[in-house]
Amino acid sequence: MKEKIKEKFNELFHSEGVFYTSPGRINLIGEHTDYNGGFVFPGAVDKGMIAEIKPNGTDKIRAFALDLDDYAEFGLTEEEAPAASWARYIFGVCREISKRGGEPRGFDTVFAGDVPLGAGMSSSAALESTYAFALNELFDLGIDKFELAKIGQATEHNYIGVNCGIMDQFASIFGKAGSLIRLDCRSLEYKYYPFNPVGYKLVLLDSVVKHELASSAYNKRRQSCEHVVAAIRERHPEVEFLRDATKEMLDEVKEKVSAEDYMRAEYVIEEIQRVLDVCDALERGDYETVGQKMYETHHGMSRLYEVSCEELDFLNDIAKACGVTGSRVMGGGFGGCTINLVKEELYDGFIAKATSAYKEKFGREPKVYDVVISDGARKLR
Ligand code: GLA
Repeated sequence: MKEKIKEKFNELFHSEGVFYTSPGRINLIGEHTDYNGGFVFPGAVDKGMIAEIKPNGTDKIRAFALDLDDYAEFGLTEEEAPAASWARYIFGVCREISKRGGEPRGFDTVFAGDVPLGAGMSSSAALESTYAFALNELFDLGIDKFELAKIGQATEHNYIGVNCGIMDQFASIFGKAGSLIRLDCRSLEYKYYPFNPVGYKLVLLDSVVKHELASSAYNKRRQSCEHVVAAIRERHPEVEFLRDATKEMLDEVKEKVSAEDYMRAEYVIEEIQRVLDVCDALERGDYETVGQKMYETHHGMSRLYEVSCEELDFLNDIAKACGVTGSRVMGGGFGGCTINLVKEELYDGFIAKATSAYKEKFGREPKVYDVVISDGARKLR
């Protein structure tokens, strides 16, 4: 991939730049908890985005998306936003840096990626983090790593229209080989957990389903949570996020919120507790409990939060039938992958069964990705 980028860069700009990369992520547990001030448990993966970049001494960005075979040229002011959505990620990062007082200048760039798009592995955060990290270094902006993650998140909010939490960008910037990260999304305190479940494998099954309305549905989930918080605050003004709410508080407002909002909040309150339970279980080396919690998350995401779909529920059922220790839809949902914790001796049988059964039912095979937990954003030598 690096070679192809290099070739194209040379063809377009007749020079050489510096290479940066930033990964996609997995998340063991803690879904839709980040924007509720709760906990998440992600790790960076060995798939991501790579960009070659070189300042060009102007105030224009000349960018080429190798995978899409598309070129865009745009300036750095708000009025000069590009039309292509892939370019808006790069533009958004530059704008968010400017808003924080940094002064990125023009540059030439070619990028490509191997993190699958729309698979729930945060290809967009990988793209944002690549440029946030790189521009910080190349223009010597002195921005700290937390702020780099927030720049990516703000890009989603202000230039893409997804009101996401901080998990994806955080994992992409802070990832560490071999470790998952437990992040408190309110305080941003985090802890690395070396993750080496002897005798087990983590594998993703990509349903290859993508839903068009995912971002509006995502924003709607977030609104539901905010409605419930507003209702709870009438009696409990100290509650800032669902993170602070208990099931009892939720029940107090049951008549005041819609049945749908109630279900969404019920899921979130349970899910935040599950992350903590999984951390305890991991410290004991108790993978059976970890797996059990993953199934509970799937159930909640499917029935209460309603972000699963037929294909993902099917993959989850197969995992259960094959004796897989834990399985659930990963990421925002509405398509994408399941993450599966499976005993090594069951792995081959599970993959074979899932592949054939899925093909029989939906006419195509799921994609299989073995998880390798890797480092976050960095310069490539
Ligand atoms: C998407 C968002 C994250 C997070 C997950 C769900 O990946 O970008 O902030 O909310 O969905 O856990």
